[in-house]
Amino acid sequence: MKLLVVGSGGREHAIAKKLLDSQGVEQVFVAPGNDGMTLDGLDLVNIGISEHSKLIEFAKENDIAWSFIGPDDALAAGIVDDFNQAGLKAFGPSRLAAELEWSKDFAKEIMVKYGVPTAAYGTFSDFEEAKAYIEKQGAPIVVKADGLALGKGVVVAETVEQAVEAAQEMLLDNKFGDSGARVVIEEFLDGEEFSLFAFVNGDKFYIMPTAQDHKRAYDGDKGPNTGGMGAYAPVPHLPKSVVVQSVETIIKPVLKGMIAEGRPYLGVLYAGLILTADGPKVIEFNSRFGDPETQIILPRLTSDFAQNITDILDKKEPTITWLDEGVTLGVVVASEGYPLDYDKGKPLPEKTAGDIITYYAGAKFAENSRALLSNGGRVYMLVTTADTVSAAQEKIYNQLKKQDTTGLFYRTDIGSKANK
Ligand code: AMP
Ligand code: GLY
Repeated sequence: MKLLVVGSGGREHAIAKKLLDSQGVEQVFVAPGNDGMTLDGLDLVNIGISEHSKLIEFAKENDIAWSFIGPDDALAAGIVDDFNQAGLKAFGPSRLAAELEWSKDFAKEIMVKYGVPTAAYGTFSDFEEAKAYIEKQGAPIVVKADGLALGKGVVVAETVEQAVEAAQEMLLDNKFGDSGARVVIEEFLDGEEFSLFAFVNGDKFYIMPTAQDHKRAYDGDKGPNTGGMGAYAPVPHLPKSVVVQSVETIIKPVLKGMIAEGRPYLGVLYAGLILTADGPKVIEFNSRFGDPETQIILPRLTSDFAQNITDILDKKEPTITWLDEGVTLGVVVASEGYPLDYDKGKPLPEKTAGDIITYYAGAKFAENSRALLSNGGRVYMLVTTADTVSAAQEKIYNQLKKQDTTGLFYRTDIGSKANK
């Protein structure tokens, strides 16, 4: 069987590598992918994620059994609908089901309608009304651009002034373009943040291990929000009862709701949650796998990944099994300056061997050689599994100390909040 993964980051590297490790999979293509992936035997296809008709043509010509769609913008653009219309199978939600991610306002409406616990909120396109709401609610308060803003359109404001300024930047100064033409302003939720992922088809769902990302750029959760600087799974200090409660109060009702709305969900559902004093509440839904969470969740899958997805697509009961001991932890290495301006072209260390996996994101071969150079914000990620969080940290950080990371940076405290 031949498969296609759409996307180019560390998430897609982890998905494609795991698929290639599956029985009966002879070849995995990644479009457009990155050069680092080829070190794991993956085949790159030089087609962008928005070129749906070219991707469809490629999938047909190459007998692709099904495609796995990584990025949110491709899903929001209706790539799955286009594949399906062309008679091709794709694992990911339709444009209408993916609205759970591409419109925060839609996600809020669904949550309210189907009783899913989330922060109280208001949606505004008028600045004066937004300002009045902020002043009435007081701080801390959270201001979010309604549309996709690559994780950067969220301001957790500690003061009313900060919140008003954020609303002004989004609504009046157009800082996030169209995605900030409406803002969602919501109650600040206090508590431990974690992510819960599930493979879904309609009302059938299969929960993955809990994960915790580190979204701020620098140690101690300082600095700007990024796509994610490191993660680990499972979160050892989260009681099983919290997962059970999240499934009952969040996953089940939202999937039922999507069916009732005529938008049945297929693909990976990603719930970003905060464990508040009143139980888990949703901060956001994403309609795809997380990056970097995928890179630390998929290595824990002990069943046959390609077979699992084939079964879910065919509405057969999959046999999905996970490693049930130890912790998998990963640290992202990014270009100095990320998530703002950064240089490209820094030489990257050799790919690791043994029990530390290297997943590549922004990596590209130098001209006329197979030496990898940095080519993006997040560049690569080291991932390992160990008995405890601290043992995993030790392995990864020892390896990173041996690598030349000139012009790059990484957080030195990934996993440190965990109860070791
Ligand atoms: P999002 O892009 O919606 O995931 O938001 C980015 C980050 O902002 C989240 O990972 C949280 O740390 C924080 N955040 C978002 N919404 C809230 C909220 N209502 N209360 C507290 N923190 C929040
Ligand atoms: N890790 C955050 C995200 O994928 O949105």
